[in-house]
Amino acid sequence: MTYRSDTYGERTADEYDALYSDFVPSDAQIRLLAGLAGDGPAVEIGSGTGRVTLPLAGHVPVLAVDASEEMTRQLAKKTGDLPITPITADAAHYVADRRVDLVCALFNTFFLLASEATQRAFLRNAARMLTDQGTLLIETFIPRPGQRLPDGPHPGVFPEQRSVVSLKRRSVDTVVLFAAENHPDAQEFHYNEIVFRHGQPVSVVPGQMRYWKPEQIDALAGEAGLLLRERWADWDRTPYEAAASAKHISLYRLAGQNL
Ligand SMILES: C[S@@+](CC[C@H](N)C(=O)[O-])C[C@H]1O[C@@H](n2cnc3c(N)ncnc32)[C@H](O)[C@@H]1O
Repeated sequence: MTYRSDTYGERTADEYDALYSDFVPSDAQIRLLAGLAGDGPAVEIGSGTGRVTLPLAGHVPVLAVDASEEMTRQLAKKTGDLPITPITADAAHYVADRRVDLVCALFNTFFLLASEATQRAFLRNAARMLTDQGTLLIETFIPRPGQRLPDGPHPGVFPEQRSVVSLKRRSVDTVVLFAAENHPDAQEFHYNEIVFRHGQPVSVVPGQMRYWKPEQIDALAGEAGLLLRERWADWDRTPYEAAASAKHISLYRLAGQNL
């Protein structure tokens, strides 16, 4: 299965900044990514409307790849003089025309690639793009049923039962609900963010994830020729703890390289 514009991206683009603009990347995150990217360019897969791309481009050129034309269009409106190249392409097919020191898929984008075939193709493509000392960085939540997702100040719930509706945010004029369904056998997570704004039509933003535990991602990466180098619990490089961490930031390098 490749990218479907009716499940994510196109319909999310209009709401994305309203829903996530206060999930601001920390200086530590931007410094860490810029440090890994060397002289650049960095390849960001699933760059969206540029939440991370824009501050990162203050340090290093970015090839900003997203399957959604609307996401790419919205990013292009914001780039100004920053060294950002917005590219509409599916992660299943995209390979940069040069080798790079950093390929990254941030904020659960790896899960949002939505099918195992796309995820495997992305990992193979990342291995093809990386320099010998390069890094593939993946940031995703740990699929731990019943917990709030580590998704910034207004997280949804990853359901323990099959489905759950939780409150993401409310203000005098706006309520955002998160309606989520977990399919543990298929390791699929389907959700809608439902936005009620006083006096406006209801907006329904769908998402679909194919999720994995960290060690399962390591196995997929291994099949693509990539080896885990480091795993942290956050952007401050707090050591990852399998029993407690809510998310992981995992760094892979080409297998066979002595670093
Ligand atoms: C959670 S958003 C992350 C956006 C941004 N990186 C951030 O941190 O805010 C995931 C992005 O992945 C994109 N995406 C989904 N499937 C994709 C695919 N197959 N190839 C490339 N991008 C994809 C979506 O359009 C969306 O913009």
